[in-house]
Amino acid sequence: MDFSVVVRPVTAADVDALAALQEASIMRLGIACYGEAKARAWARVGHQFKHVLLEDGRFLLAEWGGRPVGVGGWSPDSLEAKLAWIRYLFVAPDHARQGIGRRLVAAAERGAYSAGRRRFEVWSSLNAEPFYAALGYRRLRVARWPVTAAVELDYVLMGKPATALESRARSRGSSLSPG
Ligand SMILES: CC(C)(COP(=O)(O)OP(=O)(O)OC[C@H]1O[C@@H](n2cnc3c(N)ncnc32)[C@H](O)[C@@H]1OP(=O)(O)O)[C@@H](O)C(=O)NCCC(=O)NCCS
Repeated sequence: MDFSVVVRPVTAADVDALAALQEASIMRLGIACYGEAKARAWARVGHQFKHVLLEDGRFLLAEWGGRPVGVGGWSPDSLEAKLAWIRYLFVAPDHARQGIGRRLVAAAERGAYSAGRRRFEVWSSLNAEPFYAALGYRRLRVARWPVTAAVELDYVLMGKPATALESRARSRGSSLSPG
């Protein structure tokens, strides 16, 4: 078996397994911040939105030994041409703290940067705030997301400029190929 983590675009054949991964991830890693009822409401949303993962190859899956262990990607903001949203980031609970989330966000940022985006934002769950902070994101504001008619989740809007990618691109003499 190959024990290295491979990152590749999500395909239609992956979406059900990824919705299940999302559910397991939230129920193990999100429950301490939100409690069981809120975590369960949030976990169910993955099945509704799983087809977003097929948008133009912008969502990536991390695979280990042929099994999905993480997912994440980005979407362009519909109004601001320079803004990209980091979205749908979930790591399998048994593979947390192995650098998979960091790798998926870095790949999403590179993809967004190559597509001309110069600022990244994310609606971070409360449990993920230290993770995004470790990656250079800063808290912009807090908000409530009505995940169902009866359940609201506290979320944190976090953002970061593409400064690191810009300086890497400059040092390589290119403005659009951060590598
Ligand atoms: C948030 C999440 C994606 C992080 O993925 P991960 O693969 O475990 O994170 P990484 O191993 O890449 O962590 C990178 C760094 O972030 C920080 N970090 C990650 N998880 C952390 C935690 N629970 N507490 C404090 N810092 C944390 C650390 O600095 C870590 O580096 P280190 O392990 O060398 O100390 C994962 O915990 C998860 O799937 N959570 C549940 C779903 C979720 O909340 N998704 C985000 C939706 S917005």
